[in-house]
Amino acid sequence: MSQQVQGVIAPGKNEPVRVETIVIPDPGPGEAVVKIQACGVCHTDLHYKQGGINDDFPFLLGHEAAGVVESVGEGVTDVEPGDFVILNWRAVCGQCRACLRGRPWYCFNTHNAKQKMTLLDGTELSPALGIGAFAEKTLVAAGQCTKVDPEASPAVAGLLGCGVMAGIGAAINTGQVGRGDSVAVIGCGGVGDAAIAGARLAGAAKIIAVDIDDRKLETAKTMGATHTVNSRSTDPVEAIRSLTDGNGADVVIEAVGRPETYKQAFYARDLAGTVVLVGVPTPEMQLELPLIDVFGRGGSLKSSWYGDCLPSRDFPMLIDLHQQGRIDLGAFVTETIGLGDIEQAFTRMHEGDVLRSVVVF
Ligand code: APR
Ligand code: ZN
Ligand code: ZN
Repeated sequence: MSQQVQGVIAPGKNEPVRVETIVIPDPGPGEAVVKIQACGVCHTDLHYKQGGINDDFPFLLGHEAAGVVESVGEGVTDVEPGDFVILNWRAVCGQCRACLRGRPWYCFNTHNAKQKMTLLDGTELSPALGIGAFAEKTLVAAGQCTKVDPEASPAVAGLLGCGVMAGIGAAINTGQVGRGDSVAVIGCGGVGDAAIAGARLAGAAKIIAVDIDDRKLETAKTMGATHTVNSRSTDPVEAIRSLTDGNGADVVIEAVGRPETYKQAFYARDLAGTVVLVGVPTPEMQLELPLIDVFGRGGSLKSSWYGDCLPSRDFPMLIDLHQQGRIDLGAFVTETIGLGDIEQAFTRMHEGDVLRSVVVF
């Protein structure tokens, strides 16, 4: 048996996205079908459409989603029909060398549904990040479903499934920001702003936001930035040092993903401080640094995969803190849109007008 729903696909490189009928198989062993309630529009969806991730067209786009489990396959015990869940794109395996060493957030063997969703003519779809949630329903591995408080708004909850978790986790999990720390965040889009909100939640005393766009710096203040630096007009390394008694910040989070901003992060951190790279570079980018500075400045240079999150640990906790008013995840939802509005949402995202547009069903 299978069922048919409406979903948004990227049919080919740089072709406009379109709404199509999608065939969803019944869940097999270890799988679940989820009725999607909300799904955010992320840069990665645009990259899929542009052919920047791979050539496995057509893609079923969408991956920052929350919804309700409709049915589960054989052997699924962690979730059941009716559960309100956030979808994650790193369902950990529990058996690889990272998992066995007790560090499952690094899992090297994350998994997705085994069966394929298709178009009516049988063409197999590649779901974005193994999710494909710009659709009324989607098929995932049950481990991609994390149960959270059903009182939370789906539009807010879904965002934890990708960019917002990446930013909060970059501060809290990877950067280990603690009470009293000084933190600088370079790049204040959705990910950087989430890092700022995460740093505030963790008790950072000083949070310096750096961007080249004054509009972004204004939003960063509402997320918790205590100071802002426009790096188009001011040298950010000098500015961060002078705001930290000449020393540099304890933790600097790079949320752009470019060599020049990484270098700024490297030199804007205090001796023995931490740099966290959460911005995603492209394959041709190169970094050149004096090795003596890498040695002499000490500390740690880390990258953050999906905020080094463990969905089962972090999603319910962050939703609870949001529900208690201790972190405002709602501030990341700039607008809610329909399934037919994704192309315009890409344009607005590209122009820097929104933190997140969220499709609601
Ligand atoms: N210096 C400082 N800020 C910059 C620079 C720069 N040279 N170039 C761009 N920015 C700012 C932009 O003005 C914008 O506010 O970085 C921000 C990037 O934000 P978004 O484009 O909204 O991207 P976001 O969703 O936050 O993701 C940031 O993290 O997960 C990765 O792939 C993602 O690499 C991307 C990064
Ligand atoms: Zn594993
Ligand atoms: Zn994403």
